[in-house]
Amino acid sequence: MTRAHWGSRLGFILASAGSAIGLGAVWKFPYVTGNNGGGAFLLIYLAISLTLGLALMVAEMALGRSAGEDAVGTFRDLKGGAWPIAGYAAVLTCFLILSFYCTVGGWTVAYFAKAVDGNVLAPEADLATEFGNFIADPKEPLIYLAVFSLITLFIVIGGVREGIEKLSKYFMPVMFVLMLVLIGRSLTLPGALSGLKYFLYPDFSKVGTRMVLDALGLSFFSLSLGAGMMITYGSYVAKEVNLFRSSLWVIALALGMSFLSGLIVLPAVFAFGFDPQSGPGLTFVTMPAVFVQMPGGAFFAVLFFALLVLAALTSSVSLLEVIVCFLIDELKLSRAAAATGTTLLFMVLGVAVSWSFGIWKDVTLFGKTIFECLDFLTVNMLMPCIELSVALFAGWAVWQKVEKELTLNSVNPHWIRFIKFLIRYLAPALIVAILVSGLLPDE
Ligand code: PHE
Repeated sequence: MTRAHWGSRLGFILASAGSAIGLGAVWKFPYVTGNNGGGAFLLIYLAISLTLGLALMVAEMALGRSAGEDAVGTFRDLKGGAWPIAGYAAVLTCFLILSFYCTVGGWTVAYFAKAVDGNVLAPEADLATEFGNFIADPKEPLIYLAVFSLITLFIVIGGVREGIEKLSKYFMPVMFVLMLVLIGRSLTLPGALSGLKYFLYPDFSKVGTRMVLDALGLSFFSLSLGAGMMITYGSYVAKEVNLFRSSLWVIALALGMSFLSGLIVLPAVFAFGFDPQSGPGLTFVTMPAVFVQMPGGAFFAVLFFALLVLAALTSSVSLLEVIVCFLIDELKLSRAAAATGTTLLFMVLGVAVSWSFGIWKDVTLFGKTIFECLDFLTVNMLMPCIELSVALFAGWAVWQKVEKELTLNSVNPHWIRFIKFLIRYLAPALIVAILVSGLLPDE
């Protein structure tokens, strides 16, 4: 059987950017930045994304294309030995992320439904309570979890070109334009400037080791690195496509979207007197408050949540695709069977995640709820460790193969040398340093 391929270079870039841009940018980025005190965190996040993020994205894509295999097969066929463990860890990471991704994806569907019903525009004071009650409910979020997961399943069964590529192509430009409109409203709210300052002004006294670990994890999460994702999508890409330039595009689009989300959410948080450190509910509580203040708010609410659902879907689809690609390539399962089986399993874990915001919120390990455990384990531990393996693998074990993929696209030798330096030395050193210090108790 010949391997599926992207329809075009643009299709590949948009699908990869579609994977990168999702709940990471619009949901996670604002609240993690809020939790970590704003500006200084933003700077560290940008610095990591533009150096390590860029180099590792190129590396993942080059590895995938060189092998033409799933995440596990890539490590096995290019070198073998113990390396495929990193591939298995990547597949596991995608599975664990899916359990909470689809829970939060479900919240976006629920808010879309509320927006269509006109219920989002309740009086401001109640927004936080309302959101809290909704996610704590033992039943309602599960319906939306199921809806979101099943849509993900159908798109993945549709396959690479028809399902994933088409979806990304059309909605992303619309999303960017909408974000610009929303920034206009958010920044002109009375009191918004203190939020802008919080977001942009770096206060280095707030920098701590846990913060840098958070920045590393969030950077990988929102660029879809350290989960075998870019390896998998890279395995579907034609040899002529310039991987360096494609990575630059994906990173620019993904960082752009995170930055825009921060510009919308944080100024509004301050304008309405919410707490920037209130955690995962931040976007869901703040955005409706912005819509209440807008002419045509009801319309913008529907549009925003519709686009957020779509952004989340292009990412959840990529997460499921990593696992499905592995099951098809390694276990020779059919696409439909692989996708359906996996979806049923992560939905079960998703129920536990959903309940950890309500009836199971007292079920904790090391003081963390089930959601917080899964989030910390994947984003702050597994993804950095997998990226460390990718860096060592691409930089040392099979550098010639990575280099060949880049010379094939006539990437400027200076850039190749720069990427080699980043992958070989800087990435492993920084990741190890951040992991070790992040695990020590914070000052
Ligand atoms: N980057 C995605 C987001 O920000 C999440 C993701 C992580 C997708 C890892 C694929 C792999 O929403």
